[in-house]
Amino acid sequence: METQAPTASFTVIPNRRPATDEERWLAMEDPVFGKVFTDHMARATWREGDGWADRRIVPLAPIPLHPAAAVLHYAQQAFEGLKAYRWADGSIKLFRPEANAARLAASCRRMALPEVSEEDFLAAVEGLVEVDQNWVSGTDGASLYLRPTVIATEASLLVQPAAEVDLLVTASPVGAYMGAAGEGVSIWVSRGYHRANPGGTGDTKTAGNYAASMLPQKEAKEHGCSQVLFLDAREDTYVEELGGMNLVAVRADGSVLTPRLTGTILPGVTRDSILTLLRDEGRTVEERDIALSELVEGMESGEIVELFACGTAAVVTPIARLVSDDLDVSVPERSEDDGPSVAETMRVRLTDIQYGRAEDPHGWVREVVPAPEG
Ligand SMILES: Cc1ncc(COP(=O)(O)O)c(C=O)c1O
Repeated sequence: METQAPTASFTVIPNRRPATDEERWLAMEDPVFGKVFTDHMARATWREGDGWADRRIVPLAPIPLHPAAAVLHYAQQAFEGLKAYRWADGSIKLFRPEANAARLAASCRRMALPEVSEEDFLAAVEGLVEVDQNWVSGTDGASLYLRPTVIATEASLLVQPAAEVDLLVTASPVGAYMGAAGEGVSIWVSRGYHRANPGGTGDTKTAGNYAASMLPQKEAKEHGCSQVLFLDAREDTYVEELGGMNLVAVRADGSVLTPRLTGTILPGVTRDSILTLLRDEGRTVEERDIALSELVEGMESGEIVELFACGTAAVVTPIARLVSDDLDVSVPERSEDDGPSVAETMRVRLTDIQYGRAEDPHGWVREVVPAPEG
C-alpha cells in the first residue's frame, strides 16, 4: 500500500552557511547560464511500494550516488525548466508552472518513472523559491531558472524500471537576455544526425535526447553556428526543432507557420504561449509539416520574412541564416520601415506578462511570494 503524506508540503532544513549578501550579489551580477546555484535544493524520494516520501528542502550539496545507480547507466531520467520572476512590486511569480508539471508527468510516464503529482511539483518549486527568494533579482530581464529533475537512483544494472527514484529541484539565477532586437543567429541544419524517431522520446524532456544532440551541436559550433536544427528522421525532409528551442516562421502576409507536434518534437510552453498570443492578435497560425525546401525557397523569394526560435531559457531568438553542407540562406534583411519584428513583438508581449507589466488574459502567472506590505 502506498503511504503518502497527507499534504505535499516540503519540510525546510535551512542552510546554516548560506552565501553572504556580498557573495550572492557577486554571483548574481552576471551569471553564466546554469553555473550559479542558490543555497538550497528541493528533494523527495520514491520507493516502490511506498510512493513519494521525505519531501524536503535542504542545503544544496552534492548527492551520494551508487556507481551502479540506474540513471548513470540507462539514463532513466526526466526533467523540466521554468523560471521565477520578480515584479516591480517585489512579489515573485512563476509562469505556467502547471504546464511544466503536466509535461514532467508525461515525461515520467514515457521513461517508466513514478509520476510527480502537480501538487508535489508546485510544492517543491514554490518551497524552494520561497526559501531562496533573495536569489530572485529585480534587475530588468533577470530571473531564477528552476530545474526539477527525476532520476533513477536504485543501484541496479538490470535494464528495468528502478525501484528507487529521487526528485531534485535546483535553482539558478540567470541574467537579462539581450532580446530579439539583435541581428539574429546562424543555425546549422543537421543532415546526418536526427534528434528523434517516431515512437521514441522526442516529445519527452529526458537526458538522452540532449546527450545525442551534443555531437551535432559541436558540429554547429565548428561551422560558426550557435544552434542546430534537426530534420525528421523518417523522411529527412521536414524541419522539427532546435536542440533546445522550438521553431517559428513568419510569412510576408503576417501569418505564422510552425511544425506540428507529431510526437518527435518537445511541446514547448513558450511555443504554446506565443502561438496563443499570435492567435489573440488575429494572426493565422498554421501547425503543420514544413519541408526544409519550403523554408529555403520562402526565404529566397521573400515569402518567409522571419524565422525565430523560442524556449524558456532565451525566450525568443531571431534566426538570420540557415547553414548546412549544401546550404547557406539568409532571412531577408529588415528595414526600419518594417516596424518591429514579430519575434520582438512576441518577446515583449510575453515578458510583459511574465514581469507583470501587462495584463495576464490567460491566467498564466502564479504568485509564490506576495509583494511586501506597505
Ligand atoms: C528540445 C527542446 N525543444 C523546445 C524547448 C522549449 O520548451 P519550453 O518553451 O517549454 O522551454 C526546449 C526547452 O525546454 C527543449 O529542450
